[in-house]
Amino acid sequence: MQIGNCLFAHLLICQFCYPMSTSRKKIAAGNWKMNTTLPEAQELFEAIVRMLPDVSHSTSVVVAPPYPFIPVASKLFRNQNNLFMAAQNCSSEEMGAFTGEVSAEMLRSLAVQYVILGHSERRKYFNETGDVIYRKLALSLKYSLRPICCVGESLKQREAGEQKDVVREQLEETAFMFDARQVGKIVIAYEPVWAIGTGKTATPEQAQDMHAHIRTLLTDRYGKEAAEGISILYGGSCNSRNAAELFKCKDIDGGLIGGASLKAEEFIAIAQSL
Ligand code: 13P
Repeated sequence: MQIGNCLFAHLLICQFCYPMSTSRKKIAAGNWKMNTTLPEAQELFEAIVRMLPDVSHSTSVVVAPPYPFIPVASKLFRNQNNLFMAAQNCSSEEMGAFTGEVSAEMLRSLAVQYVILGHSERRKYFNETGDVIYRKLALSLKYSLRPICCVGESLKQREAGEQKDVVREQLEETAFMFDARQVGKIVIAYEPVWAIGTGKTATPEQAQDMHAHIRTLLTDRYGKEAAEGISILYGGSCNSRNAAELFKCKDIDGGLIGGASLKAEEFIAIAQSL
């Protein structure tokens, strides 16, 4: 009974503590992708919680484990002010007969705060189109999840000099479908496809150039104040050796980290670079 009440109070509080801010947040987000078993996940969660005091309180550390391990982490993450739980995806449908899907509302009921949407692996392997990603964004916002909306060009598109148009089009069919109030709850992640899992990080100049482009697009559409409040993360072979140089750039507000987030020391070192 007491545990039930406690959980209810926790969920109720979370319902109102949307991790929103007017000045933009610095975020280190770890996308574990389809890695770890339960014991490995548990060990990694515990190590992150143990090392969290080494990270500035003003940095949000976001962890996106595979779905089944979310409840395990939720217990450990409770009472950690700057540690947030994310999912790697959610359904584009709200509820019902969609075998194997996980809804935004389910995630919310697990006290998940962020959800990664439109990742290039979802676009490539699961044929997610702009329309599908838009529907996921809308449901996430409806259930007070904060979406991390991913965009980024392929190598072919960069070699053709099309990267800025590609990213603009991806934003136009996803995040830019929302009004200023809603877009303020979205985090944007620029992840050039050629940099993901390849060890070929974008240079700070390349990354800053694209982040500034995204900020300009946001300014044109929503005004300067709104654009300045939106966090734009970089993702793609980011590690503890290159993070500081990337995070120094004016429009890079953190990272969406894949491989390097599977080692607690490495992930925390990246978060410390913010
Ligand atoms: P890597 O850091 O492994 O390149 O992955 C980046 C990524 O896809 C994060 O979402």
